[in-house]
Order: sequence, then structure tokens, then C-alpha cells
Amino acid sequence: MSRGPLPYSSKILELFRNPKNLGKMEDATVSAVAGSPACGDVIAFYLKINEAEVIEKSSFESYGCAANIATASITTEIVKGKRLEDAWNVSWKRVADEVGGLPTMKFHCGILSVGAVRRAIREYYEKKGEKPSWLGDELTFEERQALKEEELAKVLSK
Ligand code: FES
Repeated sequence: MSRGPLPYSSKILELFRNPKNLGKMEDATVSAVAGSPACGDVIAFYLKINEAEVIEKSSFESYGCAANIATASITTEIVKGKRLEDAWNVSWKRVADEVGGLPTMKFHCGILSVGAVRRAIREYYEKKGEKPSWLGDELTFEERQALKEEELAKVLSK
């Protein structure tokens, strides 16, 4: 069965063609590789965090679709300059809004971007051996939709 093209916004197409902050960050403070159980695509997020716990810069690598490249790119822009707590609270709906909306079947692509950032932030505090009060013990929905490589491999082998 053939399928028509997805109704992507012009912003998604623009970011897909010219993504901002694309590429590995050599001096990252923390990174997270995460995959979507919905589609099997993988993303890596890199954060450079300063002593005041502000994100100085952020970059990504995506092995996902156009919606994922666009949402990951906009997410790097949204979290840049934010305190970790504020970056943590960025919702996938905000990300979707900022790319001009996502087709329903592509919601998970934006969720993966936000989940990967949260995984990176959680990893930062795990490495530090600290846990601020706003960081819950339970993984959030977005983190559960951004599986670590080994978790993803398990899901995909089923
Ligand atoms: Fe996998 Fe978009 S379809 S990230």
C-alpha cells in the first residue's frame, strides 16, 4: 500500500535540511544515547554544563527521521542557556509546537528528543552522586520512551 507524504511543517523541513547544533561534542560534560521503542531509531545528545549548572551548549546526532532531526535540533536551541531544572521541564509538546506541530504518527520522534535530554541530565547527577529534589526517582514517560542502547536491543530482538 502506498502512502502519501507526511504533512510536515515548513519549520520541520527547514531544520531537516539545515539542522542547528548537529554533531558530536568532544568536550561535552555528559551525553546520552537513546533509542525509540516505537521505531528503533537512535539519537545521541551532548550537553556542556557549567559550574552554575547552566547548559552552555548542546548538540545532537540523529539516526532518525526528518521529524526527529528537526525536534532534536530545536531542543538543542531551547535548552541552551537554561538551568538544568528548567531544561528538565521542557515538554515534548513545547518542542512539537516550536517546530510548527508534528503529525500524530510522529509524536514519538519529539518524545525521543526530550527523553534523551532528560537521560543526559539524569546521568549528570548520577555521575555527580547528587540528586536535586525536582529529579524524581522514577523515570518519566519521556525517558521510558528513550531507551538506553542495551534496552533498545532487547526490545528490537523480540
Ligand atoms: Fe523514528 Fe521518527 S520515526 S524517530
